[in-house]
Amino acid sequence: MAQNEIQITRPDDLHLHVRTGDALKSVVPDTARQFARAIIMPNLETPVTSVEQAGKYRQEILDAVPEGIDFEPLMTLYLTDNTSVETIKAAKDSGFIHGLKLYPAGATTNSDAGVTDVRNVYDVLETMQLVDLPLLVHGEVTDPVVDVFDRERLFIKEILAPLIERLPKLRIVMEHITTSDAVDFVMSASDKIAATITAHHLLMNRNAIFTGGVRPHHYCLPILKREEHRQALVKAATSGNPKFFLGTDSAPHAQGAKESDCGCAGMYTAYNAMELYTEVFDLNNSLGKLEGFASTYGAAFYHLPQSTDSITLQRQDWKIPASLPLGQEKVIPLRAGESCHWTLTNK
Ligand code: DOR
Ligand code: ZN
Repeated sequence: MAQNEIQITRPDDLHLHVRTGDALKSVVPDTARQFARAIIMPNLETPVTSVEQAGKYRQEILDAVPEGIDFEPLMTLYLTDNTSVETIKAAKDSGFIHGLKLYPAGATTNSDAGVTDVRNVYDVLETMQLVDLPLLVHGEVTDPVVDVFDRERLFIKEILAPLIERLPKLRIVMEHITTSDAVDFVMSASDKIAATITAHHLLMNRNAIFTGGVRPHHYCLPILKREEHRQALVKAATSGNPKFFLGTDSAPHAQGAKESDCGCAGMYTAYNAMELYTEVFDLNNSLGKLEGFASTYGAAFYHLPQSTDSITLQRQDWKIPASLPLGQEKVIPLRAGESCHWTLTNK
């Protein structure tokens, strides 16, 4: 008989964008309702590059958590060509910064201040290895000549593999992996190398960007890939291998910024994230593997204690609203106007 209910340790979202200001106030409650903690991305319009900025940003997030909910933002800093060794040491000493994010300059939203050549930050990465602070990687090459569907595969070969060879003890999370190449690479790498996987890359392949016309709300980076890659991701996520864990990459943009002649990359999945992931695991007869992926492996990789709280999901259809508030604007959640087949009971 089909399992109709599942209770798991309160999960962690190990890759999340919450923006700032009024937009932040709109989206933080969606994540806090489901997750114990989240790794907060630092790619604000003014990137979070210092411990002081991260401290203020952390407080802004905490102030937006609804009364009665325990939620801990796990902060990160944005690596630039000019990040200093002192900043790395201060980040480690802060106790609330859990990693540094490497955006290759120009790779995605607000990445212009990112690293122009990984060799520029080798001394900083060496210090991170020394103090054992993880590196979180947006793994795509930025050469505009390279086909957008090949950028992750080339990044692994040209940048990530040499980096690991040079710094074999550095903990690295390859964020939001999208290809079978990335799955294979992470599986064959040491236990210092892990990866997050989004719900949208588990649920959709690249046809979803073009179903009946151009679908701007299905555009994200790294871009959705072929079905064979989606299947490799599902296999990795549901395998019980602790190198693969949950990171939504929920990335809210106002409706107008998505539905534009140059639409922004990012999908808003924080509203129904756990329901979407549960659906994937259910469809693949692996509900028993959900807790490891969502609540255990990520915490272990980041050297965090597991949450002592739990959440419960039930097999029950519910309709996702057509839109949600995002400050004074609107954001279109994934599956807007359609159904989710699992429901979080203790919302
Ligand atoms: O789709 C994406 N949106 N990918 C990223 O890497 C960044 C994110 C954002 O911040 O909007
Ligand atoms: Zn992201």
